[in-house]
Amino acid sequence: MKEITLPSPAKLNWLLHVGATRPDGYHSLNTVYQTLDIADEITVKLLNTDTDECILAGFPSDIDPQTNLVRRAWQACRKAFPGQVPSVFISARKRLPRGGGLGGGSSNAGIVIRALVDLCNLGDINDPALLAKLQTIAARIGSDVPFFISGGVAQGTGRGEIITPMKSEKQFWLVLLLPDASVSTAAAYRMLDQHPRPDVTEIDWQKKVIQLQGALSDGNANLLASLIHNDFDMFAAQYDWFHKSVSRLKEANCLRAFLCGSGSTVAGLFKEEASARKAAQTTGGILTSTT
Ligand code: C5P
Repeated sequence: MKEITLPSPAKLNWLLHVGATRPDGYHSLNTVYQTLDIADEITVKLLNTDTDECILAGFPSDIDPQTNLVRRAWQACRKAFPGQVPSVFISARKRLPRGGGLGGGSSNAGIVIRALVDLCNLGDINDPALLAKLQTIAARIGSDVPFFISGGVAQGTGRGEIITPMKSEKQFWLVLLLPDASVSTAAAYRMLDQHPRPDVTEIDWQKKVIQLQGALSDGNANLLASLIHNDFDMFAAQYDWFHKSVSRLKEANCLRAFLCGSGSTVAGLFKEEASARKAAQTTGGILTSTT
């Protein structure tokens, strides 16, 4: 039986501006996503059965298998590519924390779509028409699922689902601290709505993205540190776990400490591998780098 095993990476957001609430209830986003080298591992195996089956293994027991995002990814692909996607067995080796803002569930769903493209010969992933179709499927599963189809660095607009790839040749080193707090994404957005936020014009946003692209292309960690912005930092600032994590990372000489997505993971950006490695030891955090 055909099968494939792929890493399902974590992500962080170098920039994350949350705009107004849209008529569909989502918020407009201006963000820059980045995949990291820490990852779950997802294996997808095609099954030769007459029945419609998506058998799951290795996922946390409190996730309802019927609503698991990987099952929804399989169902969406079956619908979009009729007769081409058979029953599957999907197993996970989970390493990414939940409720941490690292996008684990969305990443798993995006990677299952990738895996099905390969296993079921759905087309060439480099074909822009296919990529657009896959991103439309992915967007129905979650706002950040389309990003995980290609990963790397990319702008996200709309509600985060409209992806524009950016260049990412240089590697940056980070330490992730996982406070003992789980953040509900929906609750974090509701909380943000209670605070006025600066309006970011399209021109300001594009300027920031261009500066960020310069810092990423030059491997300039100092400049990158000065540009990082996450509106959810404002939400997290009311919690002790955020301040404690930021202090620990600063004491370990990070250039900048910031929230991953809507939290609760706090990332520290370091100048180079050696200082990040040392900081991971002193803080007990996870050493990681950009992909
Ligand atoms: O799209 P996803 O299912 O990942 O979003 C989870 C929740 O986060 C949504 O139900 C919504 O409450 C909030 N959200 C939002 N605006 C976005 C993305 C997510 O309000 N752009």
